[in-house]
Amino acid sequence: MNVHLTINGDERDFDVAPNELLLTTLRRAGLYSVKHGCETGECGACAVLLNGQLVNTCTLLAAQAHGASIETVEGLAPELPGQRGALHPLQQAFINTGAIQCGFCTPAQIMAAKALLDRQPDPSEAEVREAIAGVLCRCTGYIRPVEAVQRAAAILRGDAVPPVANPSMVNTFDRFFEPDAPPQDDGPAPAGGGGVDTTTDVRTQTRTPVMVVAPPQTKVVNKPEIKVDAVKLAKGRAVFTDDMELPGMLYGALLTSPHAHARILDIDTSAAERLPGVHAVLTYKNTPRVMYASGGQSYPQPPPFDQVCLDNKVRHHGDRVAVVAAETPEIAQEALRLIQVDYEPLPAVLDPEEAMQPGAPVIHDEPDAVKIHDASRNLVHHLHARYNDVEAGFAAADYVFEGEYRTHQVQQASIEPHVCITWWDEDDRLVVRTSTQVPFHVRRIIAPLVGLPMRRIRVVKPRIGGGFGGKQEMLLEDLCSHLTIATGRPVRMEYTREHEFTSARSRHPEILRYKTGVRKDGTLTAMELRMVADCGAYGTHGLTVPTVSGFRGLTTYKADALHWDCLVAYTNKPTPGAYRGYGAPQSLFALELHMEEIALALGWDPIEFKRLNWVKEGDELVLARAMGEGREGFEQWVHSNGLDECVAEGAKAIGWERKSDPAWRTVPGKPHLRRGLGFAVCMHGTGIAGLDMGAASIKLNDDGSINLLMGATDLGTGSDTILAQIAAETLGLPLEDVIVYSSDTDFTPFDTGAYASSTTYISGGAVLKAAEEVAQQIRSHAARHFFGGVEPDRLWLEDKHVCGPVGQRVKLETVALHATHQADQHQIMATASHMSYLSPPPFAAQFAEIEVDSETGQVEVKKLVMAVDCGIAINPITAAGQVEGGMVQALGFAHSEEMPYDEAGRLLTTDFTSYRIYRADETPELGVILVQTYEPSGPYGAKAIAEIPKDGVAPALSSAIHDATGVRIRELPFTPERVWRALQADRKENV
Ligand code: FES
Repeated sequence: MNVHLTINGDERDFDVAPNELLLTTLRRAGLYSVKHGCETGECGACAVLLNGQLVNTCTLLAAQAHGASIETVEGLAPELPGQRGALHPLQQAFINTGAIQCGFCTPAQIMAAKALLDRQPDPSEAEVREAIAGVLCRCTGYIRPVEAVQRAAAILRGDAVPPVANPSMVNTFDRFFEPDAPPQDDGPAPAGGGGVDTTTDVRTQTRTPVMVVAPPQTKVVNKPEIKVDAVKLAKGRAVFTDDMELPGMLYGALLTSPHAHARILDIDTSAAERLPGVHAVLTYKNTPRVMYASGGQSYPQPPPFDQVCLDNKVRHHGDRVAVVAAETPEIAQEALRLIQVDYEPLPAVLDPEEAMQPGAPVIHDEPDAVKIHDASRNLVHHLHARYNDVEAGFAAADYVFEGEYRTHQVQQASIEPHVCITWWDEDDRLVVRTSTQVPFHVRRIIAPLVGLPMRRIRVVKPRIGGGFGGKQEMLLEDLCSHLTIATGRPVRMEYTREHEFTSARSRHPEILRYKTGVRKDGTLTAMELRMVADCGAYGTHGLTVPTVSGFRGLTTYKADALHWDCLVAYTNKPTPGAYRGYGAPQSLFALELHMEEIALALGWDPIEFKRLNWVKEGDELVLARAMGEGREGFEQWVHSNGLDECVAEGAKAIGWERKSDPAWRTVPGKPHLRRGLGFAVCMHGTGIAGLDMGAASIKLNDDGSINLLMGATDLGTGSDTILAQIAAETLGLPLEDVIVYSSDTDFTPFDTGAYASSTTYISGGAVLKAAEEVAQQIRSHAARHFFGGVEPDRLWLEDKHVCGPVGQRVKLETVALHATHQADQHQIMATASHMSYLSPPPFAAQFAEIEVDSETGQVEVKKLVMAVDCGIAINPITAAGQVEGGMVQALGFAHSEEMPYDEAGRLLTTDFTSYRIYRADETPELGVILVQTYEPSGPYGAKAIAEIPKDGVAPALSSAIHDATGVRIRELPFTPERVWRALQADRKENV
C-alpha cells in the first residue's frame, strides 16, 4: 500500500506492507536517527514529531501516519551543501553541556525537547524533565540533558547564557608531588604540557613519570573538551551497528526456550524451511558442537567451557534453541513459529544454595563440558583465599560480629540492544560488524565456533549505544556468522528487548556472610567473607565476578587476618555476566552495612570507625596476590588515596550536619515521613593487573594533524575523547587535530577492550607512549633539518609548533610536509603497547539523602552526592558524566530494578514497564565532586572512574533508611514492599 509522508519538509511516498511499522519505514528512508530500543514504546528511542506531537514509531503503523508531517533530528539543521556542520541550538547545547554519552537516546531526547520548546519557550526544570521523561537514557543520569534543554531554550529566547559549568573539582596535588622549576631557556623542555621521565620500572613495566609541569597547567588534558564524536551523535548520523543496509541482506531471528530447564528430544524444521523467503534454519542438528565460554575475556579464557552454539538441552527461559535467516524480519518470525520443538521439561532450580543440595536437578549433565568444579552438585567453582590465621584473629578479638547480606539480579539495560551484521567480503573473509565492547576477544572466540582461522575474520566495532558490561560478551556474533556461512548472504541479527532480559547477561546475585573480629580500640583483628554466587545457567564470568567481590569486600579495610571462601553455583536462571561494577556493588553493599552495624554497636561514629580502618596511602592490598582472577595475582599497594578529602567535601555538599538536627528529621504536617542521611565508602580498581593490554598507533599527516588508531572501545564513556586528549597534550596539538578511529581488528592494534575500568589507564598508557615516540621522531627530523643539528631533546612541541631553546618556532605542518615530501622522507608514526602490574584503586565517598514513608514503605531519594578520587580527570566533564549516570544506574540497583521469576522459572520482568529504570522526571538531585589526586603510574596522573559510581548508592541508601527509621535492611532492592515489611516487623518486635 502507498503511504504519503512529509518528512522534514520533503514529500515522500512509500510502498509499505500493511503491518509495517513507521519505525521501519523511516529507517528504510535512511533516517537512522530513529532508533530501535524496544518494541513497546517504552524506551522512546524511536520517537519523532508527528504533526508536532512526540510519538513512538515502534508502536505506530506506517499506514496510520499516512498524510502526516514528520520531523526527525536530521531535519533540525539540514546538511545542505556548504552547511554540513550546521547545528540547531538544541544540538549545540547537548554537545556543549556534555549531555551526550553513547548518544543512542540523543536524537529522540532532542526531538522531545523541541516539542516542548515549540509550545513553551521558557520551561521550568520540572517541565523539561517531564517532556523528556518518555525517552529513557541509561548513560547520563539526565542532569546534563536537562541543562542542555534549558540552555537551548535561553538561546532560542535570545537570553544570555553563562559558560558551561565545570564540575566541582578539589585538587590535592601538593600532597602527591612537587612541581619542578620551569624549564630554562637553554635546557631540555617537555613534550607538550607534561613532560615525563621515560624510565621504566623493569619489574612492573609501569611508567613512573615525573611531572615537569603540574596537570592544571596542561592545555588539553584536565580540560572539559567537547567529545570528539558529539557532533555526529547530535546530528543522528549513521554511526551505530544497525545504521547500514547491505545488498541482499537477510534477517536473522532467534527461537528461545519457554522452559527454565528441558531436554530437546527433537526439532522439526521442515515447515520453516519450506516457507518462501527462508534461507537457513539452524539447530543443534546442523551446527558444529564446540564447547566455549561466551565472556569476552583475555586468553586463556577463564573456565568453565559449558556452552555450545546450539544445544539439545535448554537451561533457562530464553536459552537458544534455533535460528533462521529469511528475506524479511516478518518471514523470519513466521519461520520461528513453524519450528516444532519436542521438549522434555525437567525440574528447575532457581536458588543457588538449593542447587548445590543432593538431589537437585543437574543442570550441566553433558559429558563434554570442561572444567566445571563439580557438575553433579551444580558447583561451578569453589574459591578460597587466605591471609594469616583468621581463627587466631577471632580469638584475639574483643568482639566478634556476624552479618548476612543479599544482593539480587539486575540487567545492564543499554538502550541499544545487542545487534550484529555479518557478511563475506570480496576476499572471502567473514566481516562481523557488531555492537561489542571486546572486538578482539570476539574474533578469537568465534573463530573455532564457525570453523574459520582467525585471519579470515574481521570484527568491526562502530559506535555503541551503551554496554555497561553487557556487551563484554559474545552473544549474537556466532549465530549471525553461522547464518552468513550457511546462506552466503549478509545477515543481520538483533535482540528484542525481551531477549535483552532473558537471553543477554545481568549481574550475579550473591549471598555474603561476614564475620569480623574487632579490638576495643576499633581496629580489626580478622575478617572472613563466605559467599554464594549465583551464576545462572552458564559459568561465564562466574570465576572472575565473585573474585572481584571477594577482593573488594576484604581489602577496602585493613584486618590482621583475612579469609575468603566462595561457592559459585549454577541455577536455571538467565545467565549473569559482566555488569559495570563487576562484583564490587555486591560486596561493598554487604561490607559497608556490616562496618556501619559494627560501628553503631560499639558506639562509634560510623565514618570515624571506617576512617580508622580503611586502607591508606602506603598500605598493601594484601589479598592481591592470592586473588588474581583465577591465577596468581600481583602485589598491590595504595599510592594515592583522596578518601579523607572525598568524605569532607561530600559531607559538606550533602549537609551531613543535619543528621544531628532532630527538627530536620521530620516533615512538618506529615508525621509519616522520616528523613535520613546515609554514607558509604567505595574503593574500586583500575584495570586488571598483569592482564589488560592496550595498543595504539599514531600517524602524522602532512598537515601536522594525526590519526590515532586504537583497539580501545568507546561505548559512550568518552574514552575516544580522553585518549585523543592524551595524544594532543603530548604532541602540542589542539584536540581537533586528532582524528580518532576505533576499532577494527584489521586496522587498529590490539586492545583487551572496554571493561574493568581500564581504558584511561591501560589504553591511555599506550597512547601516551605512542605519542611520546612520535614526538621524538618529529623532534629528530626537526633538529636535523630546521634547528641546525641541535640535540632533539632540546626541542619541544607546543601550539602546533616545534620550539627551540633560543626562541625558534617551526610550524609542525612545515616539519610534517618536509618529512613526507622533501628530504629524508619517511612516515612519522609509532605504535605502542601498554600493560601494568598495578591496578591503582580509585576511592569515593557516597552520600544519600532520603525520605521514608513509614506507612507505605516508599523511599524517596532526594539527593545523591559522590566525591570521587579518580586521580587526574583527563576530561572533567566526561568524568563527571560517568559519575552522574553511574549513580543513577546504582540507584536502580538499590531501589527499583529486579528480575523476579515465577515458579516455573520464567522471568517476569521482560520490558521497561515491569523493569523500572529511572526516568528524567524521577531522578533525584545529583552532586559530583572530583577530588583530584595524582596517581604516579597513570597517564598524566589518571586512574579509573567508570565503575566506582556503581558501588556506593545501595549501602548509602541502607544507611539512610536506618538513619531515618532505625530499621536495617540487609537485602536489595529497597522496594516499598520490602521496606514496609521491615518496618512492620520492627514494630512487632518493639511492641
Ligand atoms: Fe542516553 Fe546513552 S546517552 S542512552
